[in-house]
Amino acid sequence: MADFQAELQPRLSPDEAPARGGRFHVETYGCQMNSYDSQAISGLLQRAGYARSDDPDVADIVLLNTCSVRDHAEQKILSRIGEIRSIRRRRGLAQPLIGVCGCMAERLGPELRKGQHRVDLVVGVDRYETLPGLVGELLAGEPALEAVVTGHTDEARLVAPPELYPVNNSHLVTIHKGCDYKCTYCIVPMTRGPQKEKAPDLILEEIRGIVAAGGREVTLLGQNVTAYAWPGLDFAGLLQKVAEIPGLERIRFLTGHPRDMHRPLMDVIGRLDSVCPWLHVPIQSGSDRILRRMKRLYDRAEYLDMVDYARRAIPGVTFSSDFIVGFPGETEEDFQATLEVLREVRYDQIFSFKYSERPGVPAARLADDVPLDVKKSRLARLMELQDEVWAGAAAACTGQVWHAVVEGPARRPEGAWQLRTGNNRKVIVTGGELVPGQGVAVRITGHRNTTFFGSCEEC
Ligand code: SAH
Ligand code: SF4
Ligand code: F3S
Repeated sequence: MADFQAELQPRLSPDEAPARGGRFHVETYGCQMNSYDSQAISGLLQRAGYARSDDPDVADIVLLNTCSVRDHAEQKILSRIGEIRSIRRRRGLAQPLIGVCGCMAERLGPELRKGQHRVDLVVGVDRYETLPGLVGELLAGEPALEAVVTGHTDEARLVAPPELYPVNNSHLVTIHKGCDYKCTYCIVPMTRGPQKEKAPDLILEEIRGIVAAGGREVTLLGQNVTAYAWPGLDFAGLLQKVAEIPGLERIRFLTGHPRDMHRPLMDVIGRLDSVCPWLHVPIQSGSDRILRRMKRLYDRAEYLDMVDYARRAIPGVTFSSDFIVGFPGETEEDFQATLEVLREVRYDQIFSFKYSERPGVPAARLADDVPLDVKKSRLARLMELQDEVWAGAAAACTGQVWHAVVEGPARRPEGAWQLRTGNNRKVIVTGGELVPGQGVAVRITGHRNTTFFGSCEEC
């Protein structure tokens, strides 16, 4: 054990914690809400005197911020725990210690302290303010360690420090936690708890901080941002207040629930210049029968009507969606209805998943009766059709001139820049002296998959 541990005090609140040594490493799995929380976790630990390390090999504690949404996600994390254990064996030390945060911490709690995984610390999604004190105790080898801290609080006040790490140039701002919908397949209401709004003042203050630190773009985050409901302020009202912040140029948001994407909200999105015209509105299935079984609270006609209205109200709007194939009872006919939606909407991007039964959710009472090979083949057919529909839509963009903002150097080719349009299209531009954050006009010359290539009109 390292020397600094002797001077640590048990159970310090973050504000009381003295500067001390010790390195932590955070790995993030799952959705953007976890990315945001990982920033906040890092901020809390750094303020308490710990150093962030990108390398688990030299860390004193590794925190895994985890996801439970599908079995595959959990299995990946369990095998990662095994890999970190092997770092310990290689180093011949009891470190790095292993902590599990996020949705698996909430779902499995004390189970993670037993058996082959036996992690050292389990902290759930609403309890991160306890981390600095607990990490201190743990590194000091405190015997009376409270190693499992889970359960939901009433507030959503976790505020990420603004000096942070944007994702794709956009600063994440969680506006609420949890979810009040009860989609029958979904573990999230169990792991994240009921919907809890972050107060508008806190959201605005956080975004002003981001702008003051040089940020120009934010992504408002929540499982259903469109269901944001503060007394006297709905999501459309919040968007208007955020759009009034001087210096903020672009506002994105994730995820919109199709049911809450009502016309007045779409009018506001269309009217506000700084709100980006990109809607991530997961439909999950195109079959009304399956949508009812999923308890998604809209039908296919309502969804398509929403898309149609958005096209009229929001200039340049693009759409993306999530899909689940092989939900219990899904027939070939149901699946065909999903394929039709793909043809009708012409999404820019889709994220598709094989149904994965989650313990304790309502759909777990239904037989998981679509065989794995059928799920796999439906997934492949869905992606194939998307590629086909998209190839036509993307080819028609060649020759167009778009406004896009420079995100930074592209990974390939050497010297190229990666830009993004308001409607979330990625464009690679070669040549030209560009600066991150700069807005330029680009002429589209071609595309590969969802990435466009272009030349800068002004360089
Ligand atoms: N709140 C968002 C998304 C939540 S989880 C929404 O309502 O759309 C992200 C995606 O994971 C979901 O949109 C869904 O497509 C997928 N998903 C959730 N539970 C799943 C399960 N049990 N099996 C397969 N995919 C699932
Ligand atoms: Fe899960 Fe449905 Fe809530 Fe999305 S809206 S998080 S899919 S329960
Ligand atoms: Fe996964 Fe939890 Fe997000 S289950 S998708 S990390 S809310």
